[in-house]
Amino acid sequence: MTTRIFSFVTILSLGISISIPAQTNRFLVVKADQPKADIQPAMWGVFFEDINFAADGGIYAELVKNRSFEFKSPLTGWKEIKQGDAKGRLLIINRENEKPANPRVLNIKADAMKGDFGISNEGFRGMGIKKDNQYNFSILACSIEGNVKLKVELISASGQKIGEASLENFTSDWGKYSVSFKASATDPKASLNVLFAGKGEIEVDMVSLFPNDTWKNRPNGLRPDIVQLLADMKPGFIRFPGGCIVEGFDLDNRYQWKNTIGNIEDRKTIINRWNTEFKHRLTPDYYQSFGLGFYEYFQLAEDLGAEPLPILNCGMACQFNSAEVVPVDKLDPFIQDALDLIEFANGGVESKWGSLRAKMGHPAPFNMKLLGVGNEQWGEQYIERYKVMSKVLKEKHPEITLISDPGPSPDGEMFEYLWGELRKLNADIVDEHYYQNPSWFLNNVKRYDNYDRKGPKIFAGEYAVQTVATTSSDNKNNWQSALSEAAYMTGLERNADIVHMASYAPLFAHSEGWQWTPDLIWFDNLHVYGTPNYYVQKLFSTNKGTQVLPLLYQDKPVTGQDSLYASAVFDKNTREIILKIINTSNKTQTGIVIIETAKKLSSKGKVLILKSNKLDGMNSFDDPKQVSPVEELINVKGKEVSISLTPYSFTVIKVALL
Ligand code: AHR
Repeated sequence: MTTRIFSFVTILSLGISISIPAQTNRFLVVKADQPKADIQPAMWGVFFEDINFAADGGIYAELVKNRSFEFKSPLTGWKEIKQGDAKGRLLIINRENEKPANPRVLNIKADAMKGDFGISNEGFRGMGIKKDNQYNFSILACSIEGNVKLKVELISASGQKIGEASLENFTSDWGKYSVSFKASATDPKASLNVLFAGKGEIEVDMVSLFPNDTWKNRPNGLRPDIVQLLADMKPGFIRFPGGCIVEGFDLDNRYQWKNTIGNIEDRKTIINRWNTEFKHRLTPDYYQSFGLGFYEYFQLAEDLGAEPLPILNCGMACQFNSAEVVPVDKLDPFIQDALDLIEFANGGVESKWGSLRAKMGHPAPFNMKLLGVGNEQWGEQYIERYKVMSKVLKEKHPEITLISDPGPSPDGEMFEYLWGELRKLNADIVDEHYYQNPSWFLNNVKRYDNYDRKGPKIFAGEYAVQTVATTSSDNKNNWQSALSEAAYMTGLERNADIVHMASYAPLFAHSEGWQWTPDLIWFDNLHVYGTPNYYVQKLFSTNKGTQVLPLLYQDKPVTGQDSLYASAVFDKNTREIILKIINTSNKTQTGIVIIETAKKLSSKGKVLILKSNKLDGMNSFDDPKQVSPVEELINVKGKEVSISLTPYSFTVIKVALL
């Protein structure tokens, strides 16, 4: 059939595009009346981890960094301002016994009848401010002596005042004071001055500035531009809060969901484990305020129509770091955390944790069905702990599907051992991770073809092509990586009878605050864009169908013959047959798709094409949609569709039944 077959890997690694004449007479056959398996409604989802400033400084819209002075150095992100004749002094007071979750407050003595004394916050690599938007400033304050007034000023990077407001009449009881104002200019790198005028002493905490414009206009809300990109993907699930962040570099640093709910001033700030993880990408000012906590994650999942998938610590800290474990007979608090989480998500309003959910504003249950026990753990120590935790959880909550993991590698001795044990334990779903090079993704497209159909189901929970090497800061979200992922994902889709869920990882990165690359969505303080990898995920997720259809080339699934990879699904709701075809070669490939069905087909189909003529093609803030899908119409002649697949392209073809 093919006269010139090129190794995709070779051509990809050369990163060049050579034009080679088109081939014809290729026949792909879709058996549209022979659905093989159901596709899980939650098949394609997203993996959220607070890495790369994904939460604070990212999707969580708070603009003030270290708002409660709880970073190790209490004035990180802040600097003192003293101008003119003003005098004053700052003092950090620790009230640990009284307020263990939020012990520090800032005590200010001001003598500023003329001139300015106060503090300035730098935000997260600056504050992104938009002209004419409203900003809501709030502060917890308590007057100690005298009559101090407060001036709030937004200052542009060039030093101009671009917004201001004032607050006064502070009482000697702690209270929350708020004021709103409009910004007069747009600036990605503004800062916030909080100035104390007059003479006296005052204490403050939780100094906060939010844009009024948040996702669904919620106070304490999320950046709407970033959430919109998630919403556009229509993800089937959202996994949170990670990732290694679940484990912490030691147990003290692990993610504890109970510390992330309730009043935001009572959520204990802790250091983010990615803070000093990579010597080449140190971010010493990376902490977790938990303003975005478990309640907000559940709410986000509901907003997105996605299944919430929390992952909990199973008594083990990150094995790449301290590898601390809790003795197996001391796991009760961890088990209780899991049971309480189920009650928080699903319990009635009369239950302890359900009533807290109701008090926070959500009396209806969140209807959580999935729960992860541990992230990327390995060795006997994981199995011992998983056994204990899953036994109790399965007894008390058989309705919850548990996710377990076979370690960080996609193969090898450790992986085989864990898989063997999890199989014996009748695990529900096993979470495999692969951060590999482009050829690994292509060579593994048949990975699940021969997996045991009677064993646990698969969650491809973290994957991304690494163009250089895992954790290399030179990895790129280029078209080569996205195209290889698309090819691989046809293998996940073809095996949807056992692959029940999949998500790219990590999800987000701040262009100036990241530790790990590649990432699906990049943002700065004012902008956001989806990578080519994002558009691949979106095309799969928004065209997921309900049943897998056999799609054959010379009677075999399309798994790399002539550098083509493909899968097909039927969508019962839209009555569409949907094909996904990836041409990984540098030549146009033509052919005919024969749709074998007893039903009649519409004479026009829809085609979505994602391509780039450069394998190193990327999206950017300046050109956010350079690699993004283009829609066209295609003719359907009876049961046949003629296709012409451009070099290095991902094509989705949709044909409706009449
Ligand atoms: O996605 C980044 C990290 O990769 C995750 O935190 C961890 O689970 C994996 O090693």
